[in-house]
Amino acid sequence: MSSFSSLWLRIREPVDHEARYDFSPDLFVNNMPHEKIVDLGCGTGSNFRYLAPRLGRGQHWLCVDHDAELLEQLAPATATANTFSEITRNDGGFKFAGKNSAGSVQTLELDLASKLATLAIGPDTLLTGSALLDLVSRSWLQQLVTQCCSQRAPALFTLTYDGRIAMHPAHPDDEMIRQLVNSHQTTDKGFGPALGPGACAASKELFEAQGYSVAMQDSDWQLLPQHASLQKALLNGWIEAALEVDHTRQEALVRWSQQRLEEIERQALHITVGHKDFLALPPRRHR
Ligand SMILES: C[S@@+](CC[C@H](N)C(=O)[O-])C[C@H]1O[C@@H](n2cnc3c(N)ncnc32)[C@H](O)[C@@H]1O
Repeated sequence: MSSFSSLWLRIREPVDHEARYDFSPDLFVNNMPHEKIVDLGCGTGSNFRYLAPRLGRGQHWLCVDHDAELLEQLAPATATANTFSEITRNDGGFKFAGKNSAGSVQTLELDLASKLATLAIGPDTLLTGSALLDLVSRSWLQQLVTQCCSQRAPALFTLTYDGRIAMHPAHPDDEMIRQLVNSHQTTDKGFGPALGPGACAASKELFEAQGYSVAMQDSDWQLLPQHASLQKALLNGWIEAALEVDHTRQEALVRWSQQRLEEIERQALHITVGHKDFLALPPRRHR
């Protein structure tokens, strides 16, 4: 089972929002339903805070995660972020209203690895998630795609890691780190062997096999010197992951991370992390 700290989710949120491709005009042009929105692996609600202001009035969100502590922070984090002018708490969620958007949010604690089938997804549902699909296995993704496509529901998944890492200035060991990190990405995160960097290609393949059209766009993180805390947290995570994969590289990994941390201190490091966003739309309905 994977767990994510609320601090990690908080420091990545502005960078995630900056990186995302804005598909909301496509949803409106295609006249897709977005009254009911199911956010899988919602964490503290970053995906909701990005999308809700773009989707107008009458939105009803079901935000799903297996981590009760993260779910509890969804309402307070939304209030702190000042995304909406009004937030009214009620049983199991809250109502929100802003300049051009309004609706409700309900949270649901659920293990998606074993209980995905219990979620009610209908033709009026927009199925969404951010930073989730690289954690899941191919068989789980197939189940998700089958469930979504059987209802002809649209799907919007964002910030899926695609295996690319680039750093400036470059270091001779960057490629070794990238390969170890990518290898760790495919270990089990609670859903079976994870797709990791293969998640974007697998999603496109599986949705297209059901007749869906898939629009995929890069949504890379650009971590500049001012993102020092996220750069540090990311590097520490990479080192931990790389050591888990190959402990014999410890000396080289420590040398590499010492140099990188020193560059972060000097505000001299730029990291690009490759992500992708995609919108999968069902074949046109007969009207
Ligand atoms: C990288 S975080 C992304 C969180 C949020 N979508 C965001 O963009 O900030 C992955 C999320 O998936 C959730 N998750 C992981 N495994 C899960 C499972 N088996 N069932 C439900 N949620 C899960 C984690 O608790 C975490 O909130």
